[in-house]
Amino acid sequence: MSDFRILAIPGSLRRASFNRGLLVAAEQILSGRAEVELASLADIPLYNDDVRALGYPEPVEQLRSQIERADALLLGATEYNFGPSGVLKNAIDWASRPPDPPLQGKPFGLVGASTGGFGTVRSQLALRQILLIVQALGYPGSLHVSGAAKLFDEEGRLTDEATRQSLSDFLDGFLGFLERVGSG
Ligand SMILES: Cc1cc2nc3c(=O)[nH]c(=O)nc-3n(C[C@H](O)[C@H](O)[C@H](O)COP(=O)(O)O)c2cc1C
Repeated sequence: MSDFRILAIPGSLRRASFNRGLLVAAEQILSGRAEVELASLADIPLYNDDVRALGYPEPVEQLRSQIERADALLLGATEYNFGPSGVLKNAIDWASRPPDPPLQGKPFGLVGASTGGFGTVRSQLALRQILLIVQALGYPGSLHVSGAAKLFDEEGRLTDEATRQSLSDFLDGFLGFLERVGSG
């Protein structure tokens, strides 16, 4: 029986995204312990406060209700130029606005994979700061997967067993955190 509903959001639109691959692996590892829904940010328009004032576009409304329904978020922290990808920051901006900002009080965990040597550490630090200001509730643990090109196949599937074990350890800690804080 699944105890938690986790919305997994990859910070990349790339078909074979390593960060999406990490979240797919997380879904497999958590099978039976949590229900993982994989979100896509492909249809989310660029944030425009004039548009928001007229009413949230349908894909944004859908993302906001997915976040609202979830007990927690798991973000794949794609790193571009030492920061979070624009698509992920953009989605956070949409989900941070009233009424009833769905990110407020929402527990979240961060994982990330990059081709460089630091495994999205800078993107994750920036995301923590951004999510702090929207009053989301961060799990302090983290997973940084560096040198990702060697650890995933050409479809973006995680193939490296040591990384899968690290992800599994991370997820054990994350579920423990969710048990302590509930659904925010
Ligand atoms: C515009 C751009 C900027 C990037 N900047 C970084 C960076 O700052 N740090 C890093 O480790 N990798 C960087 N990369 C490489 C990414 O880690 C790599 O493209 C990775 O596959 C992106 O994540 P994804 O697999 O989820 O799409 C950058 C890639 C692009 C396209």
